[in-house]
Amino acid sequence: MNHHPAELTELRDMRARAVAAGGQERVDAQHAKGKLTARERIAALLDEGSFQEIGALATHNISDFGMADKKYPGDGLVAGFGKILGRKVAIYAQDFTVLGGSFSEVQSHKISRIMDIAVDSGIPIIALIDSGGARIQEGVRSLAAYGELFTRNVMASGVVPQIALILGPSAGGAVYSPALMDFVIMVRKISHMFITGPDVIKTVTGEDVTFRDLGGTLIHNSRSGVAHLLADNEQQAFLQVKQLLSYLPPNNAEDPRRVEPYDDPLRMDDTLNYLAPEDHTQPYDMRAVIDRVVDLDSFFEVQPYYARNAIVGFGRLDGYVTGIVANQPAYLAGVLDIDSSDKIARFVRICDAYNIPLVTFVDCPGYLPGVDQEHHGIIRHGAKVIYAYCEATVPKISIVTRKAIGGAYIAMSSKQMRSDLAFAWPTAQIAVMGPEGAVNILYRRELGKASDPELLRAEIIAQYQSTFMSPYVAADMGQIDEVIEPRETRTRLIAALDVLRGKVSTNPAKKHGLMPV
Ligand code: HXC
Repeated sequence: MNHHPAELTELRDMRARAVAAGGQERVDAQHAKGKLTARERIAALLDEGSFQEIGALATHNISDFGMADKKYPGDGLVAGFGKILGRKVAIYAQDFTVLGGSFSEVQSHKISRIMDIAVDSGIPIIALIDSGGARIQEGVRSLAAYGELFTRNVMASGVVPQIALILGPSAGGAVYSPALMDFVIMVRKISHMFITGPDVIKTVTGEDVTFRDLGGTLIHNSRSGVAHLLADNEQQAFLQVKQLLSYLPPNNAEDPRRVEPYDDPLRMDDTLNYLAPEDHTQPYDMRAVIDRVVDLDSFFEVQPYYARNAIVGFGRLDGYVTGIVANQPAYLAGVLDIDSSDKIARFVRICDAYNIPLVTFVDCPGYLPGVDQEHHGIIRHGAKVIYAYCEATVPKISIVTRKAIGGAYIAMSSKQMRSDLAFAWPTAQIAVMGPEGAVNILYRRELGKASDPELLRAEIIAQYQSTFMSPYVAADMGQIDEVIEPRETRTRLIAALDVLRGKVSTNPAKKHGLMPV
């Protein structure tokens, strides 16, 4: 039956009102801040013509405080499904031009609809956040609405990838949904995340702080660790979403897509033979090692500005997605501290959840000594690295490039913690402690009595180094499977991952483990 033209007109009018959202004045104000509108963002991110909107005509409850004379079709949220480079996604964008993108019951219902369908259909969820937090006019209903959203974030966690882009304020309750998702991207100048804003902080603690210094893009990318990627503008943030999705499977029952290999799997790199300096106190850049091993230009670093003593990110080896974890000797000697432990543990779990094999490059003098670290819980945080590696059932390969001392040897994907294969470069040094510390403890009495303690110390250190400062003792004991030439790292990894591709490994049945948090 054909629609009556009047009904069609009414539908078109209503849709047009939804598109106009908060009105031209507020749209202009949004643009003046250097921000796109919700619909412009969705159009920029999705493949052209792929967006299928739902809930465009839903409106708020007019009995809410001060809302009787207001009506915003869509209620400040654009939601639906679309495609990003051909990959299906569920997506929503908060519309700051409608009541500051504040989160409402209707928003929650719309998001719940697309999230439920996304989980059932196994497709990633993308959230574009631009919101002043819980809608004040709704009172407790907007709080309950957040509860509905958080529940869905948690239920979807590890089932389908969840990516949050912070494209404006993310205030109050608006921070916790992104915090429960897998990746948070923030954009310079326009993004802020905070639980309580500068005014409240001033009242409660007397501290004076700007939005930027409180919860700006740099703070959350470099200090708090809340964000995982930093973009210079919205377009770059959209590109980062595309890159992330290219490394992730659509859901945890599938593997990430392999790209057609474009780099020679047998490529050897002689430069690698000279990258790690013989002098173990000299730094070198582990990023350069990773870039030379993985397929050309394939390394996509996550959290590059946070805990820079560790490197995590996705790369490809012969076209297959691989999770890369590494210590960075060029920063704080690659030591494991509280922040780098959190960074590594989280990334290992993301790779394990999404069937991404892990390759770990080890050059680490151990856990960071210090009162501050001990008092802030390096024991608890450091344990997360151990927990995450032990728990992970994906293929795991480690390569000790230089130092693997003490706890670092064990924690960084050691064979005893269910790693599948352990390689070492000839420059590897595997010991329970560094030579100076070990000799001071073992020979304190002898050194105290010696006529020339420094000479004796030097002699014993030399003996200790010849015993432990090479990979051959560990190889002799089978703790290292093979000592390889650095130049052949890529070919060995590709071949090893090929063997491990069919790996089946499970954990004991349990409700859930008790990862130290
Ligand atoms: C209703 C809101 C709102 C909110 C902003 N608006 N936040 N409306 N509920 N939570 C409205 C404003 O009244 C204004 O309406 C419009 O959005 C734009 O806001 P402005 O303040 O003019 O914009 P701007 O100067 O850019 O500042 C944005 C802002 C600021 C930083 C987000 O609005 C702000 O601080 N809002 C409150 C943030 C906050 O404290 N949220 C916590 C809520 S409680 P008009 O009509 O004038 O354009 C919460 C608890 C949940 O979230 C906890 C769960 C765990």
